[in-house]
Amino acid sequence: MDVQIEIERLRSELHKHNHRYYTLDAPVISDYDFDQLLKKLEQLEAAHPEFFDPNSPSVRVGGEVTKNFETVSHRFPMLSLGNTYSLEELQDWIIRVQKLAPNATFVCELKYDGVAIGIQYVNGALSRAVTRGDGAQGDDITTNVRTIKSIPLQLTAPYPEDFEIRGEIVLPHARFDALNAQRSAQGLSLFANPRNCASGTLKLQDSAEVAKRGLDAYLYYVLPEGVLASNHSESIAHAGKLGFKIPRTQDKFIAKCDSIEAIMSFVNHWDKARKELPFDIDGVVIKVDSYKAQEDLGFTAKSPRWATAFKFKAERIPTVLESVSYQVGRTGAITPVANLKPVWLGGTTVKRASLHNEDQIAALDLHNGDTVFVEKGGEIIPKVVGVDVLNRMESALRIEFISHCPECHSPLSRLDGEAQHYCLNESSCEPQVSGRIDHFISRKAMDITGMGSETVALLVKKNLVSTPADLYKLTYEELIQLDGFKERSVLNVLDGVEASKSQPFERVLFAIGIRHVGATVAKKLVRHFRTIESLLSANREDLLAAEEIGEVIADQLLATFQKPEWRLEIERLRQYGLNFEAELKEQLSDSPISAKKIVVSGVFESISRNELKELIETLGGSNVSSISGKTDYVFAGEGMGPAKLKKATSLGVPILNEMEVRTLLNL
Ligand code: IVH
Repeated sequence: MDVQIEIERLRSELHKHNHRYYTLDAPVISDYDFDQLLKKLEQLEAAHPEFFDPNSPSVRVGGEVTKNFETVSHRFPMLSLGNTYSLEELQDWIIRVQKLAPNATFVCELKYDGVAIGIQYVNGALSRAVTRGDGAQGDDITTNVRTIKSIPLQLTAPYPEDFEIRGEIVLPHARFDALNAQRSAQGLSLFANPRNCASGTLKLQDSAEVAKRGLDAYLYYVLPEGVLASNHSESIAHAGKLGFKIPRTQDKFIAKCDSIEAIMSFVNHWDKARKELPFDIDGVVIKVDSYKAQEDLGFTAKSPRWATAFKFKAERIPTVLESVSYQVGRTGAITPVANLKPVWLGGTTVKRASLHNEDQIAALDLHNGDTVFVEKGGEIIPKVVGVDVLNRMESALRIEFISHCPECHSPLSRLDGEAQHYCLNESSCEPQVSGRIDHFISRKAMDITGMGSETVALLVKKNLVSTPADLYKLTYEELIQLDGFKERSVLNVLDGVEASKSQPFERVLFAIGIRHVGATVAKKLVRHFRTIESLLSANREDLLAAEEIGEVIADQLLATFQKPEWRLEIERLRQYGLNFEAELKEQLSDSPISAKKIVVSGVFESISRNELKELIETLGGSNVSSISGKTDYVFAGEGMGPAKLKKATSLGVPILNEMEVRTLLNL
């Protein structure tokens, strides 16, 4: 039999089964039989690479690795939606639209809380999938999107020759929970919510990993308007016939509404029913159905006048405050935490909530035993947002902030102008000691593999380490005596410690854990001062001259570097061979764009945006995202937006075209 024909037959059959399984939820063969067909296809494809097809069903398992996602321009700008939290404002919007477009009918849909995506199909095959980016340009993440099983790779004919469909990529709750449970067991950091996780997943380099995460997609917008039908609701229905997973009327995911009442009833239904959905939504989108009416209504600069979003307020529920406890962070910062009577909120049981600081407790006028309202925002830890004062007992005592460290009992201090209390006993307050070392070894800092916070706690307890520098004097003999340590784990620790010596200065500066010096500040300091000597000898004025260094950070640096124990620690780390000088490529002080702030806009012919941005950093310049009086240059490629152009011109910022950029950078 002709191999090519057989490959194509298998592909077409597998496309159909995928569609039945993932989109229609109506499989006709068993998983086993499906896997057999897929295996057969994979074998034939491996033996016949000449018949490669980027849309073969075999790409669903992933495997292709993308190092840098290319920035590409959207064919149609990706706009956002106007939104409101108020039903009254929503009614006003409907009335306004009805005045401007009499007889308009509306379509209500769910507002999916995920990552927006635009997918282009050419001759029925998925050709490109792009993130929203800044609305004009986004990242090409086609390789990763091809692994999402509910997105068809090949459409069912007849289809338009070339069109785009937009929608939202979401991570269902079940997959999110399973992933976080697995990460927690591995000691990895958790994702705050399914949306963050979906967006992180889409930016993974390894598409096989993306395939495993179980992303899903809901589609809600077909472009250009009119390629499939003369109104929005029919276009969506038609997209279903082409093979897309579209919102179904029987699920009430989409509804045609011709009155305010019908729209309100859709909104009210989902405000309650959203808790039962297997994925997150954050509101409802209301659109004018007919494209003709949409055209009459038109667009504002940012969003269509023919659509708006009604957003649900974050879920908030009452529970009882049982006690307040205080956590000591690695910098000595004290965080009050509310211990709550457990309640079910947004899919998880909440037992604790952050209270941030003393001012927050005072603002809430928090008393023991209060009934409090907790809300889940974008963070993992929920917040206490209010108190039910009517429910308070006469005898309840006001919560007083502690005066001494709960761990080492030193008196706490709160500086003028700061909200946080600190325990100043840096050198022997246990959570500070191990917290600093945990931070030092963490992935974004020195990335010391082979050890985690349990090992750190053990080393601190056994008095083998009390500062990061002590890690570099650990010996095989000391480690092998620790409980649970075998030769392999000892060597892993020693290798990890040794390998960390090649981390660049900016990582080291971040890792040593000076208060207020995060990864970005460390980078800026290294770029400006280049060596530890010049940083240590800088005065307040010198520090303030560095980009993004304000008074709080400058004063903190001065106070830290005055302390002999910090100077000693830095000296010891240097003796052990850590980097305290910027790398050579950072030292291009004669570069034409050294320390210049540059906005890159539009598309360049000879270099991708990412490459250009990287080059700017390498040459000592910094990329900034928006134009201000402080911007030194705008590098303007093809298609720079008119708003940016106007702003740069009015502020007198030099605008360089591609030729001029090449001349300046000597390309
Ligand atoms: S329509 C020009 N429909 O919400 C309008 N957007 O805040 C195109 N979104 O950019 C968008 N569900 O990422 C539309 N059913 C839905 C939506 C939806 C979620 C997202 C989308 C949009 C953002 C606006």
